Amino acid sequence: MPLPTIIAPSLLAADPSDLTAACRTCEAAGAPWLHVDVMDGHFVPNLTFGPHIVEALRKKTSMVLDVHLMLQHPDRFVTPFIQAGADIVTVHVEADHDLSATLRDIRARGAKAGLAINPPTPFSHVVPYLDQIDLLLCMTVNPGFGGQSFIPEVLEKTREAQQIRERAGLSFHIEVDGGVNPANAAACREAGVNVLVAGTSFFKSAQPQETLRTLMS
Ligand code: DX5
Ligand code: ZN
Repeated sequence: MPLPTIIAPSLLAADPSDLTAACRTCEAAGAPWLHVDVMDGHFVPNLTFGPHIVEALRKKTSMVLDVHLMLQHPDRFVTPFIQAGADIVTVHVEADHDLSATLRDIRARGAKAGLAINPPTPFSHVVPYLDQIDLLLCMTVNPGFGGQSFIPEVLEKTREAQQIRERAGLSFHIEVDGGVNPANAAACREAGVNVLVAGTSFFKSAQPQETLRTLMS
């Protein structure tokens, strides 16, 4: 049974000097989730948003805050981001932490637990955790920057995830992030993806509402 398609605009591509306007753009387009990329300059070579930004966003919007932690030690930041208002906290399988313990901690603190995998990492690395998560994020670019090209081979992972999910009677979302646009959205959905993160294609669009509609259809 396919899950409903969700578009999650990525704040990384918004005007950083006016995040309130970015929220209004997403809401006006009908986006239910907002994707917030958190980078630490170690796990990825870039820096972005901290918990205080999530706290500020929480006061401005009721969209689901989908917080993607690209951190070497994500376990240290679960509590601050959930206290700030994150609804979903996603951590990487490649990071340095006790992954099962981190996923348990996220859920125990009342948020949904996401698990992310980078393009070069074999899918087998996430399989032992699929019964412990609410969302699987298959990165379709190497993380760190917006505006990169979509890697289509990653859809083999989403297909496999969908098969395992059905066989095992699980219900986690399958999300892709990086280079998602109207030209590849249908292929993603056919490969089992139900959450599409869209940064550049959404925020740099002249008509974000129309772009969102195209990503859905
Ligand atoms: C990349 C981030 C993505 C990024 C996607 O490291 O995780 O969320 O914002 O941006 P686009 O859609 O521009 O590739
Ligand atoms: Zn992301």
